[in-house]
Amino acid sequence: MDENKKNSKFGLIGYPLKHSLSPYIHEKLMSEHNIKGEYFNCEILPDEFEEKIKGILSSYTGFNVTIPFKEKIIKYLFNLSKEAKEFGSVNTVFHNGGYSTDLQGFRRCEIPLKNKKILLVGGGGVARVMLGEAILKGCKSIGIHTRRKEQAENLIKEFTQKNLLIPIFYEQSLTENDASSKQYDVILNATPVGMWPKCEMLKIDKNIISNAEYVFDSIYNPIATRLILTSRSLGVNAQTGLRMLIEQAIEAQKIWNPNINFNPTIGDSLENKLKRKILKLFPMKIVLTGFMGSGKTTIGKHLSQTLKLPLIDLDIMIEEESKMSVNLLFQEKGEKYFRDSERKCLKNVMERSESLILSTGGGTLLDLQNVEVVRKNCGFIVLLDIDIFTVFDRVSKDNTRPLIVGKSKEEITNLYNKRISTYNAIADLKIDAKKDYPLITQEIINAFDLGLPIL
Ligand code: S3P
Repeated sequence: MDENKKNSKFGLIGYPLKHSLSPYIHEKLMSEHNIKGEYFNCEILPDEFEEKIKGILSSYTGFNVTIPFKEKIIKYLFNLSKEAKEFGSVNTVFHNGGYSTDLQGFRRCEIPLKNKKILLVGGGGVARVMLGEAILKGCKSIGIHTRRKEQAENLIKEFTQKNLLIPIFYEQSLTENDASSKQYDVILNATPVGMWPKCEMLKIDKNIISNAEYVFDSIYNPIATRLILTSRSLGVNAQTGLRMLIEQAIEAQKIWNPNINFNPTIGDSLENKLKRKILKLFPMKIVLTGFMGSGKTTIGKHLSQTLKLPLIDLDIMIEEESKMSVNLLFQEKGEKYFRDSERKCLKNVMERSESLILSTGGGTLLDLQNVEVVRKNCGFIVLLDIDIFTVFDRVSKDNTRPLIVGKSKEEITNLYNKRISTYNAIADLKIDAKKDYPLITQEIINAFDLGLPIL
């Protein structure tokens, strides 16, 4: 081992860095390849960048750069790789040289770009890489949407000067009434919207998504964002940012350690380890909903066993708390009492700081306050969708459900019709729940990108 390498100091600069997975990934890459040294997170407040960057350049062997410094770093570097220069974005620094390994990471994701109409959401460092690559690959056109119009306009001006063939324009709105007429083939999210802990949905009309053939979200925590789940529910191919994250890290290590032979399958094994790590570091809840008889309890059990995540059944929790069956609760204390207890239990579960599976009762998420609690705590609502005939098949002989016992088919149908549009409106992921349970479980696991083996 080269003596100098003993104390190699690598790291990541950016702000904020609390949720960064880079130290974990780089430590794994380094230990796997016997690279001596350490990798630190170095959070720098945006105001302190100028003051601190020179010290970092002289004390680190190599480092990564993330939000909001990918563009700002450039003027402190002596030489830039061709793409870093062309795209105006640097995420890896070595010996005062700047590189964009985000580009290789993005390339490895093999997103269809050639001849495609692209919608790019975001205008920061990663957006620059996606924009540059889309142009290089010969896309048909690019619409850019940013919150601040000026940011997109500057990008458009800069990249139009470099390429006169591909039209680049500002996409004013992704949510207006005319959204259904907007036709993009590929949607690229380069913003942090959707990231843990907020886990919000990117503000984009579902029609724009369903008109597309491919969606890429650069976010990896949670592994699958609401944008990814919505796209998959609409039958649109969607890829998360996890692979890009891993590949850009491997490429950075290759730059810093040019003499090391990197294991070609390291990306796959890292991906599996990272999924488990992400579930642990960024707790999320898979929340099952659907009409009575849709299989929430059974599928909850399957999911929990397969993913090795805890399972909470809300009805059982309520029964344990009140020491009474749901049926008795309805009879003796009334529905309002039950709903209050349900709301309390839901809040309690959602605020737990661990990833888990939650089977709710068929009525829990009809209360939009409850939906808010789920959303606020990185809960993803999975609708187990069944038709009314399957409901009859599954629950007609049931005498444990107070809302079914003694009711005619017509009354049950009315209740079903009253609920179904709310279920559809709140679902992040909709699954056809008429199939066999193992198939449904697998579909959910695939949609969340939690495919096995993940231990
Ligand atoms: C209810 C559904 C039940 C249970 C309660 C109320 C409902 O759960 O929470 O009887 O309002 O739909 P299942 O959907 O698991 O039967």
